[in-house]
Amino acid sequence: MTKSCKLPWLVSLVLLIAVLAMGYMFMLRGNVVASNDSRTAIVVTADERDLLLAEMRGFLEAIQEITEAIGDGDMETASNSARAVGAAAAQGVPVALMGKLPLEFKTLGLSTHTLFDELAMNAMDMGDENIMITSVGTLLQNCTSCHAGYKIIAETPVN
Ligand code: HEC
Repeated sequence: MTKSCKLPWLVSLVLLIAVLAMGYMFMLRGNVVASNDSRTAIVVTADERDLLLAEMRGFLEAIQEITEAIGDGDMETASNSARAVGAAAAQGVPVALMGKLPLEFKTLGLSTHTLFDELAMNAMDMGDENIMITSVGTLLQNCTSCHAGYKIIAETPVN
């Protein structure tokens, strides 16, 4: 092969490596740094942190409403509260923020929304309090395992 033939291959190879590296950063790794406790710190803007934490408070509110509704035997309220934080609620997450979240974090987050949808369906289909409360317990494992592994920090310190 002459020198002029090799050059396009070289350029392609460099581009391929660049694309793979970007894919790795965007899809798998996210924008993370080590932190002084054992958790992985995800670095986002102050606004993105607000958005994630607001979503979290929505999760906790839903759990509160659902457990109270199960206690009251009010499956319709349990179902509505679960549906409110189902997969449809996750669609508002901006692409730029998605790219900063590690794959495991995204997977756990999405599975949590999906479990809320399942809970909403089961409330209406079966309406069995015992099954419902066990499902809530299973769902809460998603919360605790993600909290054990990650924290969210802002690029510029906020209050
Ligand atoms: C995919 C990961 C993940 C899942 C799943 C998850 N959380 Fe979180 N949550 C976090 C992280 C990260 C923080 C920020 C912790 C930190 O920075 O110290 C947080 C913070 C919170 C906060 C504090 C909000 C604030 O205003 O400071 C609450 C409340 C919360 N989560 C509730 C929940 C509940 C309830 C669930 C389950 C239904 C849940 N989370 C599921 C990752 C997750």
